Amino acid sequence: MGSLYKVLTHLDLENIVNEQQAFSLDVLVGLSEKPKRLSSRYFYDDRGSELFAQIMDLPEYYLTKCEFNVLKRNRKEIEALLTDGKFNLVELGAGDGRKTSILIENFLNHNLKFKYIPIDISEAAMKNLIETMNEKFPSLHTDGIVAEYFNGLKWLGNVNAEKSLVLFLGSNLGNFNKPQSRVFLRNLWNTLNDGDLLITGFDLKKDIDVMRRAYNDSRGITSEFNLNLLRRINRELGGNFDLNKFRHFASYDVFSGAMESYLVSLERQTVYIEAVSQNFFFEAWEPIHTEYSYKYLESDIRSLAETTGFTIEKQLYDSRKYFIDSVWRVQKITPDK
Ligand code: AVI
Repeated sequence: MGSLYKVLTHLDLENIVNEQQAFSLDVLVGLSEKPKRLSSRYFYDDRGSELFAQIMDLPEYYLTKCEFNVLKRNRKEIEALLTDGKFNLVELGAGDGRKTSILIENFLNHNLKFKYIPIDISEAAMKNLIETMNEKFPSLHTDGIVAEYFNGLKWLGNVNAEKSLVLFLGSNLGNFNKPQSRVFLRNLWNTLNDGDLLITGFDLKKDIDVMRRAYNDSRGITSEFNLNLLRRINRELGGNFDLNKFRHFASYDVFSGAMESYLVSLERQTVYIEAVSQNFFFEAWEPIHTEYSYKYLESDIRSLAETTGFTIEKQLYDSRKYFIDSVWRVQKITPDK
């Protein structure tokens, strides 16, 4: 069983224009800064999403394998939090639903009463996901919502009063800087009700070489993924980046606690981008910062929960303690009368 709901805030066409405008404005501002920067949110065009799917299967990219392990070994613990009646299993950015299937299979086997509600901005990805889930779990009720996360959650809150378990898996929060992640979590808190649950994935700080290898894989897929951002600028904004004149570089900054990715110009060069009618000059070895992938201490996770209105219910680990799925409960205090 599966339905698809589209939550639109503006006319479709207007949205597309705005997205392109935001992209060109971000590129103009980012490449005019010193040091130059581009946001990793623009990695995910069709080719970028395909490359990220390949990254998740790489032997060096431990994050995905660890999270599978977390969910497998802790599925009973998660089930134990959901014993009082019907609930919505809401997922932000579900991808192919492989990780979530571990939980869904367990919930169905134990006759829990729930609906699966994935929310994603890509209609194509949502259609694929609904199809996959219908095939895998014919008795599962899936309502896919095509929307920005917060619009989707607000809409859901208006049409449905059930308790929610929201999944924000992967290490997606790690791609935001600290203030951005607080804003994201507080926005989430605003759209949820007292007592709702949230499970977020956090990649823990660990042996620096293990982390560096994950972002410098031997097959060069991560390098392709990073360089694809320049290919996207060429295609969508009329840029003339020569991809052979840039190289991928990723390193761990012990102070910021993030793996940081860059594209480094291999020579002195000028790049023109039609959509912003501007030339950008690069010196030899000048970097463009393209991504933060923050790694966490348990104390960082506690402080994030405390400062955004959540209480930590459980910390669920993989067997090597490389990764945590942290289970938080929304706490809304009503003033004394
Ligand atoms: C999507 N995100 C959690 C990935 C990460 O690990 O930061 C994206 C990625 N970048 C390089 N490899 C994978």
